[in-house]
Amino acid sequence: MARRFDQNKLVIASHNAGKVREIGALLEPFNVEVVSAGTLNLDEPEETGETFVDNALLKAHAAAKASGLPSLADDSGLSVWTLSGAPGIYSARWAGPDKDFTVAMKKVEELMRGAEDRTAAFICALALAWPDGHAEVFEGSVSGEIVWPPRGDKGFGYDPIFVADGETQTFAEIDPARKHAMSHRADAFHQLVAACFADQGT
Ligand code: IMP
Repeated sequence: MARRFDQNKLVIASHNAGKVREIGALLEPFNVEVVSAGTLNLDEPEETGETFVDNALLKAHAAAKASGLPSLADDSGLSVWTLSGAPGIYSARWAGPDKDFTVAMKKVEELMRGAEDRTAAFICALALAWPDGHAEVFEGSVSGEIVWPPRGDKGFGYDPIFVADGETQTFAEIDPARKHAMSHRADAFHQLVAACFADQGT
């Protein structure tokens, strides 16, 4: 049985303003005051884990210990079947120091060239850690395929080359609300809410 969240303040263990905004919005119905690791000047731990779950736990534990508050961390990325799951936990790093996802998407396509199987998935691990060392972790995913050339300008990261199962448009072409309803992050978040927040908020 998962531990329930029964406090009124939560740290979002991220220095990424976009992620903080997105997670903050998802938590809005639960009357939780949300503060980011960046605002608290918490150090960013090195992501040394071998899985999304490892890295999400590592970030959540570090923030909970440093702040004395429950902390929520997200680790996510793209996993391509024929590339044995790459770029996976290295999704952000494939874009290089300039965070250029045109380069990262090209790298995916070049490595895949000729492959018949274009199956891929976005994965998201969400970890909620308490200062006493307890943690709950949830992994969400959305399956689809890699398309080329990139299409659309609405999303971020690898969105222009990912078409979810049952869709014809890439994640960068569809309405953002539609993406957010079916995304890997939404999947992990629904699991977190059901286990730790259900019956609170709405
Ligand atoms: P993290 O900040 O270490 O979790 O890195 C996540 C990386 O995975 C991002 O920089 C993106 O490249 C990629 N990623 C995660 N979620 C998405 C998504 O919803 N769309 C596109 N790319 C994503």
